[in-house]
Amino acid sequence: MADFVVMLGPPGAGKGTQARIVSERLGLAHISSGDIFRENIKSPTELGKLAKGYMDRGELVPDDVTIAMIRERLERPDCEKGALLDGFPRTPAQARALEEMLKEFDGEINAVPYIHVPEAALIERLAGRWTCRAHGHIFHERYNPPKEAGRCDIDGSELYQREDDQAETVKRRIRVYMEQTAPLIEYYRQKDVLVEIDGAQAIEQVTASLMESVRRGL
Ligand code: AP5
Repeated sequence: MADFVVMLGPPGAGKGTQARIVSERLGLAHISSGDIFRENIKSPTELGKLAKGYMDRGELVPDDVTIAMIRERLERPDCEKGALLDGFPRTPAQARALEEMLKEFDGEINAVPYIHVPEAALIERLAGRWTCRAHGHIFHERYNPPKEAGRCDIDGSELYQREDDQAETVKRRIRVYMEQTAPLIEYYRQKDVLVEIDGAQAIEQVTASLMESVRRGL
């Protein structure tokens, strides 16, 4: 049976930062729906052209398109042992579709860490976020600064600020999260897989809390 972990939390909670570290330590594939959309925008593909409008407005890409994209990703060999899902599912329809897909792939969701952070901190985190152009490595000008301003420590590529991190779009993303994604917290609590993680701690402490809770579930 393959092990799946679903990372839940509002925009800026630290899902991407933590998913990269934790997936590597657990030997699971890291699947970030946001990263896949951004790669498609960069290429650009038809999927990228479609997703861009929604992402720039801070809205969700339609369920059917997103579910098909994740299905294709889960079929790749690196998901045989399981995966850590970062940014998917984000609606009840996506959560139900994931369950159906995992039946086919002989997988199960063992843990759903929900990283919570107060709203004011989310806005500050996103305003100061710098992302690497080549591979999406994540930095923050105050909380996780690169050694050289504007350059990724890991691959030396240029750092940029995401289009959807502008203040008005961030507010819209948080609203969309509250309306469409927050109901999944209760959904997974009822399935007894939800683990609440205090995301206001320093990055290393959040990692330690996550590793402890996820290992318990696997
Ligand atoms: P996506 O890329 O998934 O964005 P998001 O969920 O809004 O999450 P973020 O990437 O903004 O934040 P994060 O929680 O990963 O935080 P991070 O680690 O970077 O989605 C973008 C868009 O794509 C969506 O709006 C939608 O349009 C579309 N989309 C994606 N998935 C979809 C789906 N399933 N269905 C439909 N549409 C979809 O951290 C943020 C900052 O804080 C960084 O600077 C970091 O260095 C810093 N930081 C992290 N942890 C800490 C800490 N503990 N203390 C201090 N600073 C910290």
